[in-house]
Amino acid sequence: MAAHPTLPSPVSTSLLLLLLLLLSCCSELCAAATVSYDHRAVVIDGKRRVLISGSIHYPRSTPEMWPDLIQKSKDGGLDVIETYVFWNLHEPVQGQYDFGGRKDLVKFIKTVAAAGLYVHLRIGPYVCAEWNYGGFPVWLHFIPNIKFRIDNDPFKNEMQKFTTKIVDMMKQEMLFASQGGPIILSQIENEYGNVEQYYGPTAKSYIDWAASMATSLNVSVPWVMCQQDNAPDPIINTCNGFYCDNFKPNSDKKPKMWTENWSGWFLSFGGGVPYRPVEDLAFAVARFFQRGGTFQNYYMYHGGTNFGRTSGGPFIATSYDYDSPIDEYGLLRQPKWGHLRDLHIVIKQCEEALVATDPTYTSLGKNLEAHVYRTSSGRCAAFLANIDDQSDATVTFNGKPFHLPAWSVSILPDCQNVAFNTAKINSQTTVLEMKYTKTYDQAADESTGSSEISESEWKFFTEPIGSINSTFKNVGLLEQINTTADSSDYLWYSISIDVIGNEPFLFNGTQTTLHVDSLGHVLHVFVNGKLSASNQGSNADASFKLENVITLSSGQNRIDLLSATVGLKNYGQFFDLKGAGITGVILKNQNATRDLSSSQWTYQIGLKGEQLALHDNTQNSTWMSLSSLPKNQPLTWYMTYFDAPEHDDPVAIDFTGMGKGEAWVNGHSIGRYWPTYTSPPSGCVQSCDYRGPFSGSKCVRNCGQPSQSLYHVPRSLIQQGKTNRLVLFEEVGGDPTLVSFALREARSLCAHVSQSHPPPVDAVNTAQKKGAVLHLECPHSDRVISSVKFASFGTPHGTCGSYSHGNCSSTTALAILQQACIGVRSCDVKVSTEVFGDPCRDVVKSLAVEASCS
Ligand code: GAL
Repeated sequence: MAAHPTLPSPVSTSLLLLLLLLLSCCSELCAAATVSYDHRAVVIDGKRRVLISGSIHYPRSTPEMWPDLIQKSKDGGLDVIETYVFWNLHEPVQGQYDFGGRKDLVKFIKTVAAAGLYVHLRIGPYVCAEWNYGGFPVWLHFIPNIKFRIDNDPFKNEMQKFTTKIVDMMKQEMLFASQGGPIILSQIENEYGNVEQYYGPTAKSYIDWAASMATSLNVSVPWVMCQQDNAPDPIINTCNGFYCDNFKPNSDKKPKMWTENWSGWFLSFGGGVPYRPVEDLAFAVARFFQRGGTFQNYYMYHGGTNFGRTSGGPFIATSYDYDSPIDEYGLLRQPKWGHLRDLHIVIKQCEEALVATDPTYTSLGKNLEAHVYRTSSGRCAAFLANIDDQSDATVTFNGKPFHLPAWSVSILPDCQNVAFNTAKINSQTTVLEMKYTKTYDQAADESTGSSEISESEWKFFTEPIGSINSTFKNVGLLEQINTTADSSDYLWYSISIDVIGNEPFLFNGTQTTLHVDSLGHVLHVFVNGKLSASNQGSNADASFKLENVITLSSGQNRIDLLSATVGLKNYGQFFDLKGAGITGVILKNQNATRDLSSSQWTYQIGLKGEQLALHDNTQNSTWMSLSSLPKNQPLTWYMTYFDAPEHDDPVAIDFTGMGKGEAWVNGHSIGRYWPTYTSPPSGCVQSCDYRGPFSGSKCVRNCGQPSQSLYHVPRSLIQQGKTNRLVLFEEVGGDPTLVSFALREARSLCAHVSQSHPPPVDAVNTAQKKGAVLHLECPHSDRVISSVKFASFGTPHGTCGSYSHGNCSSTTALAILQQACIGVRSCDVKVSTEVFGDPCRDVVKSLAVEASCS
């Protein structure tokens, strides 16, 4: 690849200095800034910038969590927070807007600004995002003649109305960079290029319209379209994926930008828990900057929770943890967060050289690449990569040897010294665990000795079976989403069958099979008022068949089919038209077949408990209490009170013992729960080899286990010192007394650092820059390291929790670590023979430590 000449500086130095001065007087970005771009980078106030960004979706956490999440993002080295705007949250009913609570977009953006970070506002308004219906309000579907995402007025009018509404709101609040606000980028549409081929001849004119509509809104910051190779100027087309180093924008005038670097992958009910090793994530990021990228965003940096019925689908789980650097509960996921923080610091050390020029590429051998950035004034930064997924290598660069582990990049911010290697983790591992807790009440009454709320404290309400209230009739089977408009997950299909004496179904006492075809997502069959069978589809295919052997009795028989959705589809061509519900019902026995599909059915949208708003209804006349609580009964609502769990650690509810349903704390839905939907028994890996291309199914844990048994209850939903209300709606049957509360806390800290690791990235003086250092730190500022369980200097092996000594180990390691670390919040120990002596000459040694805090 030929090197590009050094690019001209976009502004004169004196102007730059002035702008810098202005910025530095105002750490909260209150000065108006101009944002543009050129071939090399996003340009802010005339200065090309390397920007590290991370996605945090405001409704996936609470306003109370935002400041801490954003501060942790800043501490992790982010410059920008990227969020989608969720149309169906803000306009649940056409023309009626809602921006309160978790929906307070303006407050979120102002919180980001207050931390001194920028915002990339991805308005969409189609967002995908594993969000219900991809973010579209369902009412949109009912506008006559509308066709989603192609060139037609009904759709374009609504899309323009909402986009304009958001832009106007941002302008009014002075949130665009030109107004002194934090928004430096905006996005229109989302990955349309991935599906454009299916949308026929008006697809391109739709995209051109979207581009010009967006541009006409004069937001004064650049617009991007992701995964849109044909994005018209001046829209920047950007890349989404696990790797984007190969990506090239569609014009030499546009910078190479990566809007979604998937930090893990999403969880679905029925799936295993995906994770992405940080060595691979860091490799992908380093490769991107190595090969000319200057804007990179982690999707997600904090994934959070799909509260209520917001999850997309079908079957997207309530947890949207995403294996992000900040976990669902708002705690640092270590070493992911820390290793990326180190990477960001080193990339910023390269910024001046990076933005000045395109890199010069030299091959250092097969799968071995060097890219060098050099400014006219002699600043130099180099990236050395070994993209082989098996073999480590030693390369010669600038006359010196460098060892490169397989699938790794070393970064040399001065072209001389390695400051970072993507495969060498200096950061500690923090093992987080759920600690089962007692509520205040139970702590006072130690005799219960259990974490459960006792039986007598629960009340219940039995949901009637079948179409009973507000029903209507229809000949034939109705498509579910068209019928419910997603006002509820539930639709009842009810029918009565008269079995008279000579009916074939009774012949010779033969059994009858009920066949049901469903487009999805979940079905419960009730025969004569009893739950008789259930079935469900999966995230990959929502449709399914159900066969259930039933016995009909002489006379009238009731068949009530409860069809439930679990998040509306959010992705793929024509996803909006993907239906749900029952498409065929047939009764069969040896002698006869009766197709009920075209019979007259009685329907009920939603549940009686929903009509009564039981999630927020405390009327004694509604709720029942019995000395023995009905358990393992389908269609039962439960209510109890609990006291706030102790301490301030994040809280989860463990729903083991329950089947499937939804849960509310003090009237707020914490989402659908479904601990009985387990992941397939195979497909998991014991330990994930980070080397080689990653995919969403490469590294999965939890096989054969519930996809999700723990559900986050944000602290702000729980009232400290007061009683709190928990309401559950259970579909299939469960025992609510088994429900328990757990606190998420750090159990132990581990680190394993080799002598061959680079020194700490924030080392300031030459002495510190000399060698590798092991750093441990308790996550809580008010806790200290209380014990060192393991320490070995030499050739220790194993992983956190199961380290063991190798053939070579210093006898002094444990005592040295105890001396340096116990009683303090954090400690640094040099990984060196100066400290530990030399237990084995001519061997590269490492230090492994496990400690805990209290
Ligand atoms: C992308 C999409 C995101 C999200 C992601 C998967 O295709 O743009 O919104 O759905 O996939 O998590």
